[in-house]
Amino acid sequence: MTNYYEQIFKRKSFHFFSGKEKTSEEDLDAINAFIKNIVPLYPDIKTEIEIVKESETTCHRGAEYCILFYSETKGEYLRNIGYIGEQIDLFLASRNIGALWFGIGKPKEKKNNGLDYVIMIAIKRMPENSFRKDMFKSKRKPLEEIWSGEELNIANIVRFAPSACNTQPWLVENQGNTLSVYRYKKPGKRGIMPIDKVMYYNRIDIGIFLFILETCLNEQGISYDRELFEDLSNAEVEKTLTAEYRLTIK
Ligand SMILES: Cc1cc2nc3c(=O)[nH]c(=O)nc-3n(C[C@H](O)[C@H](O)[C@H](O)COP(=O)(O)O)c2cc1C
Repeated sequence: MTNYYEQIFKRKSFHFFSGKEKTSEEDLDAINAFIKNIVPLYPDIKTEIEIVKESETTCHRGAEYCILFYSETKGEYLRNIGYIGEQIDLFLASRNIGALWFGIGKPKEKKNNGLDYVIMIAIKRMPENSFRKDMFKSKRKPLEEIWSGEELNIANIVRFAPSACNTQPWLVENQGNTLSVYRYKKPGKRGIMPIDKVMYYNRIDIGIFLFILETCLNEQGISYDRELFEDLSNAEVEKTLTAEYRLTIK
């Protein structure tokens, strides 16, 4: 079984893949077997995951393959893909397969079994020593910008979750051992992404963040009841509640 927690420290985005190592047939079989056991956030949303050669996509980052995610486009399908994809991202790191969530990429096939293309992760086997050595040196918002209330030994880890353009669109408030997780959008702030793209990718980012948050809670032996909230409006609101975790702390 993959120790997801350890991989949070090791994973990183390979913006350009280099080196001679090759992803083997065995690697691909292991990824496909892993995909069959993934736990979705929303089991009622249909998804398909397919591995194709990088040359069958618009990705030119020196990867060998791209993992394509397709989904029914209903409800919180973007959040669901983030949650699913982050399990794969962490699994890949455990096998020394480098990965890159690649939002701007497009595949040849926009449909798979009637489902729509959502996003891809580019991959290539990389040497162990090219993975992250000191996560705490990675660029992230300061802790106080993304977390308020008791930190529970997890706040300073979850903040290293990956996000599109490193936007880190999350905010956690811990009040009375309930974690409220918000999608955060700084009012009026214009980054390099157009607003419709920000809304799209930041919903995937929240799914990634929820998986990393749950991994940290599990590592600390903290059990929880999770309640998910709909985040379907495109109105530019600063804080949108996405999930609450009611913790049982012994
Ligand atoms: C949903 C999503 C989409 C992304 N799209 C791209 C992309 O199109 N191009 C790229 O170079 N990096 C992309 N990234 C990688 C981010 O830039 C990277 O995760 C972030 O800067 C944090 O760095 P780290 O992953 O090395 O910790 C994406 C990441 C996520 C989560």
